[in-house]
Amino acid sequence: MSVLKTTNASEIDFRKKFELTDKVIVITGACGLVGRAFCEAVAQYGAHIVVADIALANPEEFALALAERYQRKMLGVAIDVSSRQDVEQLKKKTLETFGTIDGLVNGHQNKTHLKFVPFENIQDENWDTVVQINLKGTFLTCQIIGSYMAQQGKGSIVNIPSTYSVVAPNQNLYKGTSLGCPAEYSSSKGGVDALSRYLASYWAAKGVRVNMITPHGVWNHHEEQFEKNFANFSPLQRLSFNHEVAGALIYLLSDASSYVTGDNLKVDGGWTVW
Ligand SMILES: NC(=O)c1ccc[n+]([C@@H]2O[C@H](COP(=O)([O-])OP(=O)(O)OC[C@H]3O[C@@H](n4cnc5c(N)ncnc54)[C@H](O)[C@@H]3O)[C@@H](O)[C@H]2O)c1
Repeated sequence: MSVLKTTNASEIDFRKKFELTDKVIVITGACGLVGRAFCEAVAQYGAHIVVADIALANPEEFALALAERYQRKMLGVAIDVSSRQDVEQLKKKTLETFGTIDGLVNGHQNKTHLKFVPFENIQDENWDTVVQINLKGTFLTCQIIGSYMAQQGKGSIVNIPSTYSVVAPNQNLYKGTSLGCPAEYSSSKGGVDALSRYLASYWAAKGVRVNMITPHGVWNHHEEQFEKNFANFSPLQRLSFNHEVAGALIYLLSDASSYVTGDNLKVDGGWTVW
């Protein structure tokens, strides 16, 4: 993108900087809690969305609902992000439908971490599945779709690590609940964080910006005790909502963040500040 060389900010249309009109944005895990809010927000800012998720989540149906709601072409593609063949298909179908790709958002995650297993008991199979989907899936989409954007000389990638790749989980948070955060989740997300910073540097000269959003404690009908514990440890004293994460995505996908790459924008209510 070309940036206006001026010191006169009155020449700038700041609202326009946030627009995503007619951009083509691929979102993985698009049918999830945060993914759905991402899709609604990105659609409201004018983009075409490629809704990518596992078949069970029915991405085609959600894409259809978005197309009807926003009266714009959207595409739903069922994929497993950890399959190279599937991600190649995702790129192929997107280019056949829209002819270009402007943005990639990696919002997928493997859910097995929600059933907490103490570190001493983690099975190889569980470790491998979480790393395959969370980390390898992000590697594949970045390699296959990000490389296309690098070739085009423009694009924005937003990956999603976790608070628990930034800091360790406070074990007191889970007292009196069935919840927890296992090591394979933190480890896979640490990889996403490192990969994102690597690519931010690697593709900077190609016009592709690579950033991260770290959501934290997004409310999803949690156990009451967990909500109470969370409020005690959170500077903002509450869980967040999926729509509160989406504003960060508009910023990072759009020209509003044209000088930002390699950043991890933490939407964490101040969790990591103390
Ligand atoms: N919810 C939170 O509090 C929170 C906090 C920090 C980070 N995150 C991260 O934010 C992202 C979104 O979280 P969420 O709460 O919406 O998760 P979610 O579990 O609601 O959604 C994840 C989506 O990924 C999809 N998915 C799973 N395996 C897949 C695969 N192999 N291929 C393609 N898609 C697959 C699921 O079907 C689901 O729609 C995740 O990366 C998560 O790790 C969430």
